[in-house]
Amino acid sequence: MPVLVDAAVQALDPSAGGLYVDATFGRGGRTARLLQAVGREGRVLALDRDPQAIAAGRARFAGENRLTLVRAPFADLRAVVRDHAGGTPLQGVLFDLGVSSPQLDQAERGFSFAKDGPLDMRMDPTSGEPVSAWLAHARVEEIRAVIADLGEERFARRVAAAIDAARRVTPIARTAQLAAIVESAVRTREPGKHPATRSFQALRLHVNDELGQLKAGLDAAFEVLALGGRLAAISFHSLEDRIVKQFMRRKASVDPVFAGLPLVPPSAMPAMRLVGRKAKASATEVAANPRARSAVLRVAEKIAAQGGAPR
Ligand SMILES: C[S@@+](CC[C@H](N)C(=O)[O-])C[C@H]1O[C@@H](n2cnc3c(N)ncnc32)[C@H](O)[C@@H]1O
Repeated sequence: MPVLVDAAVQALDPSAGGLYVDATFGRGGRTARLLQAVGREGRVLALDRDPQAIAAGRARFAGENRLTLVRAPFADLRAVVRDHAGGTPLQGVLFDLGVSSPQLDQAERGFSFAKDGPLDMRMDPTSGEPVSAWLAHARVEEIRAVIADLGEERFARRVAAAIDAARRVTPIARTAQLAAIVESAVRTREPGKHPATRSFQALRLHVNDELGQLKAGLDAAFEVLALGGRLAAISFHSLEDRIVKQFMRRKASVDPVFAGLPLVPPSAMPAMRLVGRKAKASATEVAANPRARSAVLRVAEKIAAQGGAPR
């Protein structure tokens, strides 16, 4: 069940006749809301890097000529807008980050430690390498760093060593196999959390380059938005939220080189304004969907073509 749906769509303040991008189509829950809001004259351009999401979307929205669905990663957002917006100003871009329920639920996609399947975890199975291939060749130190940095796993060194010992005996090819290896290495148990949660999250973020994609996607979204257009992003963990927060704060600041000077050139003035504070899911949403607990929505509006603090 999509999280913070109404809040995210309302935050974009969609107007009838406008053009909006749903950068994370999934199964189209938010796209459907956007289509309702834009009326008969409006349009939605939706992308997802997962071929299954696009196929499901084509079936669900067959005959819906206000929707353009494109299989593409965030990093290609500029090109997608150039090729499909037809020059119409873009009023809003929505990112609903992370994995979709169908990706988690289908054992054969290899995302889940709870359902045994091939150890893959790619959102786009036609590009990059599955986790099993990466674990077969990565250096132990690389594995440790990924699990420590992207999983914030205290026992990363022990997990990497256990993976290294196991792969010397037999290739690590299944999710259940990896879950058992990680479980053997993680010493303390966090309530309500499988011991492999952090390591699986880290490997998923790594093989999909999710944080790199997010940074590229935010930069591209800012560029393609019209003045007055809004960017809304929902993140599901602290590393993603930090990137979104820092991006928006930077764009909403005066370049510090000019701070305190009497004359600030327009190119150093803020390029965005923050819209409201960060929002979290309501208790009702969390009760219906435990994933909502960690969801954070942030929104900003473009107010100038350039400006803000440099990265
Ligand atoms: C949380 S789901 C979105 C759910 C969607 N809002 C709905 O209502 O069904 C995230 C989706 O974004 C896609 N995605 C994640 N990172 C992506 C990226 N870098 N480029 C394109 N799609 C991405 C995933 O494949 C997944 O389908």
